[in-house]
Order: sequence, then structure tokens, then C-alpha cells
Amino acid sequence: MSCTIEIENLHLKLSSKVILKNINLKAEHGDFITILGPNGSGKTSILKTLMGFYKIDKGKIKICDETYENNNTLNLRKKISYLPQNYEIDKFFPILTKDIIELSINENCLKNKRAMEIINEFNLMDLLKKPFGLLSGGEKQKTMLAMILLRDPVILLLDEPNLNLDMLAYKNFLKLVEKIYMEKKLTILFVTHLLTHISDLSKKVLILKAGKIIFSGKKEEIFKKENYIEFIYD
Ligand SMILES: Nc1ncnc2c1ncn2[C@@H]1O[C@H](COP(=O)(O)OP(=O)(O)O)[C@@H](O)[C@H]1O
Ligand SMILES: [Mg+2]
Repeated sequence: MSCTIEIENLHLKLSSKVILKNINLKAEHGDFITILGPNGSGKTSILKTLMGFYKIDKGKIKICDETYENNNTLNLRKKISYLPQNYEIDKFFPILTKDIIELSINENCLKNKRAMEIINEFNLMDLLKKPFGLLSGGEKQKTMLAMILLRDPVILLLDEPNLNLDMLAYKNFLKLVEKIYMEKKLTILFVTHLLTHISDLSKKVLILKAGKIIFSGKKEEIFKKENYIEFIYD
């Protein structure tokens, strides 16, 4: 299925505070777009708005063939899979890794062919019977990615997937995302606060600062800017 994302003149207020101002974004089917910005700039808020968690104040969002305007209500859109920034579960919460994966499967078993493929591809087999809370950051991240991919999304929203991962675990995670992106032709919005974490697959980078887009263009163009570090983070 082919699917685009269009955000037009989006304004968002939360607890009467302006969070996003005049956000415009267009992702064609199969685009890999990075949203870069310092902490608190509104990156997560854009993703949560796309997921339908927030009622928007002004503007329009179009996802695939559906349009959402200012009367938005909570609506988990099935075509989108979202890997949130935080999904910590208490270490002792009694849920196994396999239970997390099964959340995305209708049949109550891991005999599902797709599930087995992903479990093997992601090397999750040995983790299935471990409590999810006891996995390492990288293992949790892989499990969550496997779980959301089993929903067969056409759009993937990834919110700072580097958090809690060491360099090697993050590199492996990114490789996995890039492989899936190439194979499945998904549309990916990838959020990060680190300039060094922009994937080479990124067709476009948006820089967000204090709720506004201050740059939209190619990764290389950022580095050509004078004082680009200050431009982004100051
Ligand atoms: N539910 C909320 N109510 C009020 N303010 C919020 C809420 N969620 C986020 N914010 C504020 O919105 C701003 C942007 O937050 P966020 O989108 O999480 O930024 P980022 O992901 O770029 O770090 C921050 O100032 C944050 O404190
Ligand atoms: Mg965030």
C-alpha cells in the first residue's frame, strides 16, 4: 500500500503552552525523513500528534487517505507503528519477551510464520522466555521493533531510538532499521537530538527549534552552514 504523510500549518498547545508552531512536513511513500532538534524542541510532540494522542489547535494532518483536522481525538492509527522514546517496564513486571511480541499477533502463539521470521532475523530466540524488564537496552529495543513491525505498518515513527543503547548496540539497531526500510519500502520519520545520528538514507532533514522548523533540506547542507552547531543547539 502506498501512503504519504502531509502536515500542513500545524499548531499545538498543551496545558495552554504553545508547543508546535506552523509545522509543515511532507513525506512521500518510502521517504526516510529525520527530525533533528535539541531537547524540548517538540520532536516527540510531532510524533505523538501524528499518532493522534493530541488534539491539534490549528492545521491539518493527512495520513494515507485520511485527513485529521483540529477536532482530533485519540486514535491509534493502524497504518503507523510508533517506537516511543520511553517504554520502561518495571524490572519485575511479570511479562516475558514472547508476551510482548505476541501483543501484535492475533493467534496466541509464536508459530505465526512472520513472527518466527522476525524473531530469527532479530536474533530474539534466546530471549523469548526471559522477563522483558531484565533485557538490556539493545535487546528491549529490538523486541519492541519486532513487535511493532509485526503489525505490518506502512509508516514507522522512531523516537530517539539511540537512548539507552551503547554505540555498538545502536549501530546494530540502525542497521536493522535500514535493512527493513530497504526491503519493505516503509515511510520512516526518525527523530534524534544528535547531529551524528542522521542516517545516510535520510532524504531530508528537518531541524526543529522551540517548536518551529528552522531548516529543511539535505544533511550535507547543514554542515555547510556557518556555526551549524550553534544554529541547531543554541
Ligand atoms: N503533555 C504536555 N503538557 C505540557 N507541556 C508538554 C507536554 N508534553 C511536552 N511538553 C513540553 O513541550 C515541549 C516539547 O516537548 P517534546 O515534544 O517532548 O520535545 P523533544 O521530544 O524535542 O525533547 C517541552 O517544553 C515539553 O516540556
Ligand atoms: Mg523527545
